[in-house]
Amino acid sequence: MKLTTSLRGRLFAGLAVFVVGTALVAGYLAYRWAFDEAIELQDAILLQVGSLAANNRLEGRLPSEGNIDGEAELLIQDLQPRGATGDSVSMRRDLPGDLSDGLQTIAWNGEQWRILVRTRSDGSRVAVGQPTANRDEVAQDSALRTIVPLGVLIPCLMVVIAIVVDRSLRPLSSLARDIDAKQSDHLEKLPVEGIPAEILPFVASINRLLERIGAMFDRERRFVADAAHELRTPITALIVQADNLERVALSEDGRDRLQSLKTGTRRTAHLLEQLLTLARYDSEAATDPSSSEFDRIVKEVVADLLPIARKKSIDLGFIRAEAVSVHAESVALGVLARNLIDNALRHAPAGGRVDVSLFAENDHVVFQVDDTGPGIPEADLDRIFEPFFRGSRARGDGTGLGLSIVRRIVERCRGAIRLENKPLSEGAGLRVRVTIPSSKPR
Ligand SMILES: Nc1ncnc2c1ncn2[C@@H]1O[C@H](COP(=O)(O)OP(=O)(O)O)[C@@H](O)[C@H]1O
Ligand SMILES: [Mg+2]
Repeated sequence: MKLTTSLRGRLFAGLAVFVVGTALVAGYLAYRWAFDEAIELQDAILLQVGSLAANNRLEGRLPSEGNIDGEAELLIQDLQPRGATGDSVSMRRDLPGDLSDGLQTIAWNGEQWRILVRTRSDGSRVAVGQPTANRDEVAQDSALRTIVPLGVLIPCLMVVIAIVVDRSLRPLSSLARDIDAKQSDHLEKLPVEGIPAEILPFVASINRLLERIGAMFDRERRFVADAAHELRTPITALIVQADNLERVALSEDGRDRLQSLKTGTRRTAHLLEQLLTLARYDSEAATDPSSSEFDRIVKEVVADLLPIARKKSIDLGFIRAEAVSVHAESVALGVLARNLIDNALRHAPAGGRVDVSLFAENDHVVFQVDDTGPGIPEADLDRIFEPFFRGSRARGDGTGLGLSIVRRIVERCRGAIRLENKPLSEGAGLRVRVTIPSSKPR
């Protein structure tokens, strides 16, 4: 995910820059203050030791008593009277005798020293001092200690920010998943429960858009249904007229033409019926129908289609036929079974078989049609449910609407449909398996 386009990335980066910036400024200030404070404290100690030395004639180097660094030693030295020139004593590397009273920083013995000079009541002078390097080291140590907690806190804060940002944006990701999971022809609204207030207007406008698209689809479906309906009457009239023509004495040629006219009108009538059926089951309004006896319906369809099977010498029959019921309109179940068995009969070769099975499996009803035809090329399987798509092996005068109708009916029953080419070991051919939640057992 690109940082600039991801809300999560932007939020995290923004907050991280802010936190690190604040921490740097706060850390710098805390360090400076603690450092200055430590230096002041050491000056105060110099002043105290200085007044002690002025009163008690202390001299030498006082090792510190441990609690500060071992190197924080103090030098206490009587100064030569002003103007005194070097005698044997001054061979020692003494502090220069011309220092003025008070606190000062001087270079001595190749080091920077912080020196306090006091004059005693008898006029002699004493100097108390410390190398500034030692003082700075002690001050640095204590200043660094003040920013250690900050250094520990920042990584923890970053982790907390990452977690909070991730949590806050989770509804967005799940919303995106919901929208992605939507099938193109399923237009129920997105749920608004649990959606954060900031995203709610967004969800609401998506829902309004879905509503408009739904209305548009409805209008289109109604148009198709109306058009098919309007065409029904003239086509019926044409069929009647063609039938009447048969009773008229016609030449051989005239009879041939009448036959193709009748085939054409029959096809058109079938197409209109399929269009009307699709429009009927395409509408969103799936009422909750009462339970239908699926086995009885399938048996009726098989009985209806037996003559066609016999004509093609196809062995059409049941492998299993359990008494099962599902929640669906019986007309729809009949349409479903008829379309699938009709397809199987159409594609099975003469002398082939079409096996119908109907049985309960767990809390579902399985309706399965196996044929011994050529199956559907894998490349066609993806599109086979699209209206008017007939694949590369279309046979006879179909419309390409049958499987679309079947799928719509299966969806209305909250079921599932699967088409698979059987492996050669099972004798090749297509297996269509429809599963529908069963209603209570009879
Ligand atoms: N049992 C089957 N065996 C092989 N191909 C099939 C079978 N059922 C359907 N098909 C393929 O799927 C296409 C679409 O089927 P369908 O929607 O019922 O339309 P139609 O039967 O009107 O052509 C068919 O044209 C055919 O190519
Ligand atoms: Mg068909």
